[in-house]
Order: sequence, then structure tokens, then C-alpha cells
Amino acid sequence: MSQKMAITGGAGFIGSNLAEALAKENEVIIIDDLSSGKLENLAGIEAKFVRGSITDKELLRNEFLDVDCIFHLAAVPSVQKSIEDPIRINQINLDGTLNVLIAARDAEVKHMVFASSAAVYGDSSEVPKKEYMVPQPKSPYAVTKVAGEHYCKVFSEIYGLQTVVLRLFNVFGPKQDPNSEYSGVISRFISSILTSLDPVVFGDGEQTRDFVFVNDAVRAFILASRSKSSKTYNVARGQGASLNQLIQIIGKIVGSEIRPRFLDARSGDIKHSLADISEAESIGYYPRFPLEEGLKRTVDWMSKYILLNK
Ligand code: NAD
Ligand code: UD1
Repeated sequence: MSQKMAITGGAGFIGSNLAEALAKENEVIIIDDLSSGKLENLAGIEAKFVRGSITDKELLRNEFLDVDCIFHLAAVPSVQKSIEDPIRINQINLDGTLNVLIAARDAEVKHMVFASSAAVYGDSSEVPKKEYMVPQPKSPYAVTKVAGEHYCKVFSEIYGLQTVVLRLFNVFGPKQDPNSEYSGVISRFISSILTSLDPVVFGDGEQTRDFVFVNDAVRAFILASRSKSSKTYNVARGQGASLNQLIQIIGKIVGSEIRPRFLDARSGDIKHSLADISEAESIGYYPRFPLEEGLKRTVDWMSKYILLNK
């Protein structure tokens, strides 16, 4: 049955992939201030686009009227930016989330899915990460996600707005912007390698992440929108890979030997991140894309992207 769905941050990497999937069967509204998202990400997607900020409560309230489900993804997603400018990141990621919740409540929306992050787990030695573990944020970014999760819970208990929290691990794939120093590591590595630059590794490259292909993350959002309880789920592949391993696999895909440039580790960086994904299996989630397959698709997309933007 077709529903009316709103996506905050829908012109961004994950949001635009989600919009593409949802727009096949639903009416979709995207609210995005284009601070890091791009209109070109929405090419060919049938959706209403509203340029505006989640700091604008009035705008949100109007756009949320008659919406069945809100997917709240708008945020500044960079750990490093949050260390450089915690106040601005708090205003967008946390005050913005509170605005979205208030507008959702006022417009009588029944269901919301919140894009939280594996960053909430911090650096505790216990792996894999399970949803019941006590959050140990290591950066202002992670603090905004922990607090946002608490607000979601409180809004579901007090106001009856059903909220599902997805703790996304490291998502990668087509439409991830490689152009900023704050971009996700896979998009940075692939774009450097395809343009014959040495990829930069912060630290010794032995840090690990649980990388998950964007199509899998999108499926998790859609499953969460159908779930009947306000719960929290890890979204990942349930397997870790180090940056050094990534470089080897990408080298094999592009057929060249890669010599990374090693720089000092970044502050606020987590050493190891790995998810237990058994909880998400209860809503029907399981990852379909092996790392290598996801990387091949990302290399294909990035090759075309680089050609088009030459
Ligand atoms: P992205 O930067 O591509 O997307 C974020 C979108 O939010 C952008 O389109 C941006 O323009 C928009 N935005 C920012 N501030 C806004 C504002 N004030 N009002 C309206 N729109 C605003 O990042 P992404 O990787 O697609 O991340 C999407 C969400 O998923 C974020 O909440 C992020 O924290 C979360 N997340 C991402 C990852 C990942 O690996 N990419 C992992 C965990 C969590
Ligand atoms: C990423 C997401 C964050 C999300 C979190 C969940 C981005 C930009 N950040 O943070 O939104 O909440 O996952 O787990 O998508 N690195 C390099 N070289 C580079 C870039 C990065 O070595 O050119 C290193 C970093 O220092 C870090 C690792 O790669 O050790 C991953 O960095 P990054 O992709 O920025 O992701 P996270 O910080 O894990």
C-alpha cells in the first residue's frame, strides 16, 4: 500500500539511496538544506524536494502533515567536524533532532526511524557491540547521537510517537561524496586510487570497521518503518575489516598495487568497531552484499562519477 514518507537529509548519501527505493511505491518528501547533500543525487527520483533546515520547526510541522513515517537522517555526520565545532554540530544533530520529534508529534505522525550511529559505543574493549551495552561516546558527534536516541525513547513513551533507532555502522556505496577531507574512508580511498593519488591512512591502518553496503542499510530503514515496536538495532555486516585490508581488496579490483601514505591517527578515532546483528534479524534484516561485491559496485560508480566531474 502506498504511503506518504518524509526523509530529512534525503539529498545526502544514504538518504538519496533510501529515497530512490521508497519512491518506487510511495509518495516521498525530502527535506534537506543541501549543506552536504546534492540535488544531482536525486536525479530521476520522483519525490517532492523542499530546501530547508531541520532547525526550522514551522517548516517541518507543515511538511509532516499527513505523513505516515519520517526517516530522520539529516545531520552533520563527521566525527572530525564535531571535534572542531561542537556547538554547531550540537545545534544541527541534537537540537535538530528535537525539532523533528516535536514537529512529528504536533503533526500527529505515528512512526519515525532515526539514523543513529555505531559511534555511540565508543572504544569499549568488548566486541561485538550489542544494543544493550552502555554507550561510551568518544566525540561530540557520538554524544549528539546518544542524546538523540534518548529523545526518541522519551517521545515514544510520553507522546506515543513510535520511534525505531538504527545504529548504522560504516555505510559505503554509490553517491557517497569523496570530495571532502571529512568524507567516509572508502569513498576517499577509491577516489584517490582512481585519480592516481596515494590514499592517506590516519594511524597504522590496523583499525577496523564493520563496513556495510548502502543497499543493505536502505533495506534496514524500510524494515524498521514496518516494525511495530520502538527498539534499537545495529545495522552492519557483522564482520570487521581493517583499512589495510580494504586497500588490498580495492587494489585487486582496480588491478594495481597501492602504496598508502601513513599520517598520525586522528583524535576521537575509535580503534575497533564490530557489530552483533542478531537483534536486527528479528525485523528481517540480514546483509546481502559481501564487502568485495559492495566495493566493486562502488568502484564502478566512482569511475563514472570522476569521468562526469572532470
Ligand atoms: P550525508 O552528509 O551524505 O547526508 C546528510 C544529509 O543531511 C545531507 O544531505 C545534508 O545536506 C543534510 N543536512 C545537514 N544538515 C541539515 C539541516 N540542518 N537541515 C536539513 N538537512 C541537513 O551523510 P550520510 O552518510 O548519508 O549520513 C546520513 C545519516 O546517517 C546521518 O544522520 C549520519 O549521522 C548517519 N550515519 C551515517 C553513517 C555512514 O557511515 N555514512 C554511519 C552512521 C550513521
Ligand atoms: C563513520 C561515519 C559516521 C558514522 C560512523 C559509524 C562518515 C564520514 N563518518 O565514522 O557518520 O556515525 O562511521 O561507525 O561517514 N580514515 C583514513 N583516511 C581517510 C579517511 C578516514 O585513514 O582518508 C580513517 C579514520 O581516521 C578512521 C577510519 O578511517 O580511523 C574511518 O573513518 P571514517 O570513514 O571517517 O568513519 P568513522 O569515523 O568510523
